[in-house]
Amino acid sequence: MQKILIANQKGGCGKTSIAINLAAALANQGKTVALADADPQKSSLQWLKMRPDDAATIIGVDWRDSDDIGEIPKHLQKDDWLIIDAPGALSGNKAQPLIAECKAILIPVLPAFFDIHSTKRFLKSLEDIKRIRKGKVDIYLVANRVRSQLMQDHTPTDKLVSLFDDIGQQPLAWLSERSIYQALAERGLSIFDKSQKPYRDIQTQWQPIIDMLAHEPVGTNSPNQSGNQAAVTPSRITPQTTKTTKTSNWYE
Ligand SMILES: Nc1ncnc2c1ncn2[C@@H]1O[C@H](COP(=O)(O)OP(=O)(O)O)[C@@H](O)[C@H]1O
Ligand SMILES: [Mg+2]
Repeated sequence: MQKILIANQKGGCGKTSIAINLAAALANQGKTVALADADPQKSSLQWLKMRPDDAATIIGVDWRDSDDIGEIPKHLQKDDWLIIDAPGALSGNKAQPLIAECKAILIPVLPAFFDIHSTKRFLKSLEDIKRIRKGKVDIYLVANRVRSQLMQDHTPTDKLVSLFDDIGQQPLAWLSERSIYQALAERGLSIFDKSQKPYRDIQTQWQPIIDMLAHEPVGTNSPNQSGNQAAVTPSRITPQTTKTTKTSNWYE
């Protein structure tokens, strides 16, 4: 089974939003997907409860009260997916088993000074985890709620890129601030449950994440990107270091 953990100690950065959209993306590709909610706020499970019967099926797993990873549905096979919405307080005993055997950890980050700094501290705290130290799990940043002024012709502006210099890695994907995420979530839906063009345009921003999940073998860290390219090239974080056009506001 392919496990993906969505984590950051910072609340409100988009853990649940990324977990539910990713789960729906995979489910709409015909994959068998379970969504494990390890956050006491249980937002992912609430979203699943509202999910319409005719939407692509996602299996809900309640891990809120588990000391560690909790039970995994027995019928999940090797090629099936488990998306884990991590609690904000991910540390120590809880972190270790959640990270065990994860294919990747996605870390949503709001592109703002204080969020960048708390993410840097979070990454530092992850370094204590053996599997991460050994480079067996890939960690990716996902810039979330990016304002359109900070993107030009699908490319993050220099100002936006330089914000991430402090972490030493650029995000794998840049997701725009869109009120549609919340509007759909309130109905148990995601942008991947919709096929009209405006939704497809937003889905495009997720493509680097989808591609990474589809192609990357488990636990194969490659060297960091370096040089000028790295400034805008999505890359992963190694244990040692630790875009969008302005579109019309059709739904706002
Ligand atoms: N890309 C986005 N554009 C607009 N709103 C977003 C986006 N991502 C998340 N949100 C909103 O931000 C709020 C916090 O997101 P959430 O996923 O619940 O964060 P977390 O789980 O990290 O606390 C929610 O109201 C959510 O709908
Ligand atoms: Mg949440």
